[in-house]
Amino acid sequence: MDTKKFCRLTEEEIKSVLKSRMNEHRYAHSLNVAERAVLLAEKNGADPEKAYFSGLIHDICKGIPQEEQLAIIENEGIILDEDTKKSPALWHSIAGAIYSEHELGVTDEDVLNAIRYHTSGRGGMSILEKVVYMADLTSAERNYPDAEYTRNLTDKSLDEGIAYGVRWIAADLERRGFPKGKDTEALLEEYKNVIITE
Ligand SMILES: [Fe+2]
Ligand SMILES: [Fe+2]
Repeated sequence: MDTKKFCRLTEEEIKSVLKSRMNEHRYAHSLNVAERAVLLAEKNGADPEKAYFSGLIHDICKGIPQEEQLAIIENEGIILDEDTKKSPALWHSIAGAIYSEHELGVTDEDVLNAIRYHTSGRGGMSILEKVVYMADLTSAERNYPDAEYTRNLTDKSLDEGIAYGVRWIAADLERRGFPKGKDTEALLEEYKNVIITE
């Protein structure tokens, strides 16, 4: 696609940036998330090109050391709340949005938010944010125990997929002793009455 609609780089240039910043597995994941985001965008009324672009770059800061992720956030003058400080898994999303804006020249707020919130989710997500959040959780190479179920559920209903996914993530964070954080809490609350039909 013409990624120059959304940033300064061509798709080939973005792909070489990604390859220089992450291992092969994460690069393959990025391509899978981009592809899956297109499908979910088409089903749910998001812009498929924005979805592809956001999916492609969503983990652009995941392969760099966590201290570098934190430095990107701090250099931006962002003060993390206590829960986020205790959750290094969230840092690459926040750093990824900042990096995408400054280094790739992304200006679209919805794309930047889709990257920023792809791990935590948040209350009141846009369709694009929801699409990227679930494309990440259900990309083709995902093989956690419920991956196939979550993928099929999300194909049937994006909202049911989110309801299932966020409950699974919240339980997993609890089990591993990490705080849920206010954004995941807000998503959990927003989806608490969504009934999963199968
Ligand atoms: Fe990620
Ligand atoms: Fe990811």
